[in-house]
Formats: sequence, structure tokens, C-alpha cells
Amino acid sequence: MEPITKEIKNQTSDTFPINGTDYIEFYCGNAKQSAIYYQNAFGFKLVAYCGPETGVRDRASYVLQQDKIRLVLTSAMGPDHEISQHVLKHGDGVKVLALWVDDAEKAYQTAIERGAVSFEAPKTLKDEFGEVKVATIHTYGDTLHTFVERSNYNGPFMPGYMAKESAIDVKPIGLLYVDHCVGNVELGQMNKWVKFYQDVMGFKLLITFDDKDISTEYTALMSKVVSNGNGYIKFPINEPAKGLKKSQIEEYIEYYHGAGVQHIAVATDDILYTVDQLRKRGVEFLRVPDTYYETVAERVGEIKEDMNEIKRLNILVDRDDDGYLLQIFTKPVQDRPTVFYEIIQRAGAKSFGKGNFKALFEAIEREQAVRGTL
Ligand code: FE2
Repeated sequence: MEPITKEIKNQTSDTFPINGTDYIEFYCGNAKQSAIYYQNAFGFKLVAYCGPETGVRDRASYVLQQDKIRLVLTSAMGPDHEISQHVLKHGDGVKVLALWVDDAEKAYQTAIERGAVSFEAPKTLKDEFGEVKVATIHTYGDTLHTFVERSNYNGPFMPGYMAKESAIDVKPIGLLYVDHCVGNVELGQMNKWVKFYQDVMGFKLLITFDDKDISTEYTALMSKVVSNGNGYIKFPINEPAKGLKKSQIEEYIEYYHGAGVQHIAVATDDILYTVDQLRKRGVEFLRVPDTYYETVAERVGEIKEDMNEIKRLNILVDRDDDGYLLQIFTKPVQDRPTVFYEIIQRAGAKSFGKGNFKALFEAIEREQAVRGTL
């Protein structure tokens, strides 16, 4: 099948080549129903399935795709299954951030030599469409990275999965690719995981935010962003910092019962359309007050998009040395205040919306107060 990523740049000095995000797998309580949510609300198309009907007895997985983004939603068939235990502890959450590589065996061996902990040694999966090699290591919390080598495969997803369509008339909403995936880790653990990505996977430290950058009257957090050789994989890592009240990161860690993926940022090139559609389909977003828009023009200058529409849809704007960006954050997409999505449109900007942090965290605090956790 078509590898899912943008075109690869020539990177001769990259010691740990990764082509892009291959898929993101959620362990969830009811994958069948979650699959409907991602089709109806987010415009993903159901493309593949495995479960009892395909000879897999212990679980069911639904594969959904929109442009270069691929999600796998998995539920277990029994209470003692590792997937059920994961859901019991964490709620619905991200289990695997899978990375597309040219050589899964080499990626795995290199990672292990450099100190990664193995979850599963390389194995080759085969069916009538060809073969896929996979190997898996641990990262923060109970989260995993699977290296996927699919140079020789023409099936719908992976061996063991059958092509599956849905009767839903899915309307894509312009989501294109995974821009970045953010991890929340426990107090004092950020540098350990930044070093893990640097030492094990050859990532570079892009940006550091300390509690002076990211604090409000009440709460604070620290963040460092690491990125792989070609820049297609960006992993910001957050940890809580001391504030007067409980930070959003502490709230996440408490409800997720440990470190895990906090948000997945997905790129669009028409954020006004994407967010308008998401809102009409019932996706809820954090809200910044109208006063945010009183200063936005002087802060970011000229932008192409209609400011009235940006204000109506409550989209945030920021500018850096390279250009500007438009972004918005959903509320958590399950009952626990854990995983959420960011929708981002980059017009040159390579950063993460630092100018929006304060307004954003105040919006999160208002939600925390409603939940009684601030
Ligand atoms: Fe983000």
C-alpha cells in the first residue's frame, strides 16, 4: 500500500532514519463505536478491520484513514486481556505511536543498542498482499513505538487485516497529516525522556519552554520539543511545574494514571473549513474569550484568512520568524480529561503557538474549574 507520509528529504547524516508517522493506535473500551465517531465527526474513512471474523480471537481493530493520517482503534474480547487492563487503568488512550522506517530490524537493533527497552523483537507478517516487518520498543508510561517496514506490501493495512468499508457516506474535512504528538510525563521526568529521544533515536532538541513561558496566575508547565532528522516527527514532552494550583499536566497524569500521549496535532490547509465542519459535527473546542481578538491583529499582523471567520470559529493565531500559524484545541475526546486533538494550519511558522499559551491555559483552567479539579 501507499506509505503514509510526506515525501522524504535526502538525509545522509541521519543516524536513525524515520520516514513519518505510520499509524496511531488507541486502546479503547468500544472500538466499534469509536470508529463511528471518527468517521462521522472527524471525516475518517474505515479502510480495514481485524477481529474474530478474520481469525483474530482476542480483539477487534478498526483502521481509519484520512489523507496521510491513519488511526487504529482496538478493543479486547475479555477482561484479563492486556488491552482491557490498559483501558481499565488509563481509559481510552494512545498505546502505539508507530513510525514508518525503511528497515525495521535495523531501527530496532540500533534503538536497543542505544538503551531502548524491547517490547517485541522484529517479526515478519505475511499474507497474499506481501509482507510487513514490525518491531516495538517502550517509551514513556505504557506507550510504545512500533517500527513499521512496509516496502513490500499492497494490502489494506497489514497482514491479518481485511479491507472493510462502511455504509457511512464519509465527508473528509481536510485533515492531512500528523504534525506533532505531545507526551505528558511525571514531575522531574521530562529531561529523562528528552534524553531518551536524543540518545536512542537521534532526535534533536528544537525548543525549550520553561514555566516563565507557560504559566498563568495559577498553574505552570515545562516543555521541550524533540524532532527527528528530517523533521517530520515532532514530540513535545511536557512535565508539570510548581504553581499555586493543580496544573493541567498533573490533572492528566492523575486521570491517565501515569505518563501518556496528551494531544495529537493534525494539519489542515483550510482550517476555517475543517473547524466549521468539526463544530457542525459535534466536536467541542476550548474557548478563548472575545477579548483575545482585540489584540490579535497587532500581535500577528497581516494574515490571509478572514479575521471575522477566525473570531467566529474561535481559532487562535500566532506568528514566529518564519511565518504564522492558526490553531485550535478540542476538549478531551473521552470522559477522562486526558487525550485531545489540536487542529493546526501552518503558513510558514515552524513553532507551536507560544503566543497563545496564556490564553489557552486560562481556557483549560476554566474547564478544570468546571470539573472541580483546579
Ligand atoms: Fe500542540
